Amino acid sequence: MSFQIMGTGKAHPQFSLTNDQLSTIVDTNDEWITSRSGIKTRFIATTETGLELTATASNQALANAGIAAADLDLIICATLQGDNVTPSLACMVQQEIGAHCPAFDLNAACTGFIYALDVAAAYLDSGRADKVLVVACEMMSKHLDWNHRSTCVLFGDGAGAVVLQKGDGLLARVLTAQSDTEQALLIPGFNNINPFSQLPHRPNVLSMSGRKVFKFAVGAMVKDVKKVLAQAGLTPAQVKMVIPHQANIRIIQSAAKLLGFTEEQTAIGIQHYGNTSSASIPLLLDDLWRQGKIQRGDIIVLSAFGGGFTTGACIIKL
Ligand code: UT7
Repeated sequence: MSFQIMGTGKAHPQFSLTNDQLSTIVDTNDEWITSRSGIKTRFIATTETGLELTATASNQALANAGIAAADLDLIICATLQGDNVTPSLACMVQQEIGAHCPAFDLNAACTGFIYALDVAAAYLDSGRADKVLVVACEMMSKHLDWNHRSTCVLFGDGAGAVVLQKGDGLLARVLTAQSDTEQALLIPGFNNINPFSQLPHRPNVLSMSGRKVFKFAVGAMVKDVKKVLAQAGLTPAQVKMVIPHQANIRIIQSAAKLLGFTEEQTAIGIQHYGNTSSASIPLLLDDLWRQGKIQRGDIIVLSAFGGGFTTGACIIKL
């Protein structure tokens, strides 16, 4: 059973920040950012909230699916953190779009969209839902130290959504989690303001050991995608497009090459969006769907890795 994708949507802030503009606030340059990451621009929120992006992407997906928000049985929002700790982004968007169903946030870092698809599939399979909205929204700009050149140049803000109904489109999936004991990818919780606490104050901005994450990412993507291809009994040649998490163009190209996917089969949008964490896959999915580059009946592979560490991949027949 599992699901069929009925419609897709996306949203991003208005302001597109270029590498040259970044070089006026930190010691960097377009050549370094482009050659090391593939990023040219990223969208950064100025007036937009996470709720606005989430609602826009969700409404687009509902319109594309041809159903009303009131018909939804469940909303899952993948996010590192919504506009508030509570209410959740999912609850806020439920009201904003006019839905009445249960709603919750899910945090699996950059793998959040694939984790959320898996949870949605379980609800649909068990008969507890007929129509599910899965939306990923990340406001990475609020998690960054904007004085830290090795991280602030890499990320962007955005949201992507899909509406799912019962169907037989999920051909294979794999999810993994393993503790990142060395904290290679870390965003600490809140600033410690408890007057009784004797724990150290840790600013709640993102820090990353880029090389460690890079090495982990390529190996994990190759392993996961091989697993789902074997589960589904498919070869790379039978796949229309692989849509990988957009963290670094070199990670994507290395993994795609090792797996035997051609350039034409490998979706890349990092040059415009930067790394939007869990939103990166659904953002690209919507672009490809609306541009007609993927169509009903095509087989696509999604693959992501992220903080935790978490990883996940799935194969979907559209
Ligand atoms: O979504 C999941 C999370 N993130 C990732 O998947 C990221 C995975 N890692 C990566 O994408 C890459 O490791 C980076 C793009 C983060 C970094 O690329 P790298 O080739 O691993 O560079 P590096 O960190 O080894 O830094 C090389 C040099 C250093 O200078 P020295 O020590 O060699 O003199 C850095 O200080 O580049 C320097 N550097 C910069 N230079 C100009 C670091 N950031 C910048 C910058 N502009 N923005």
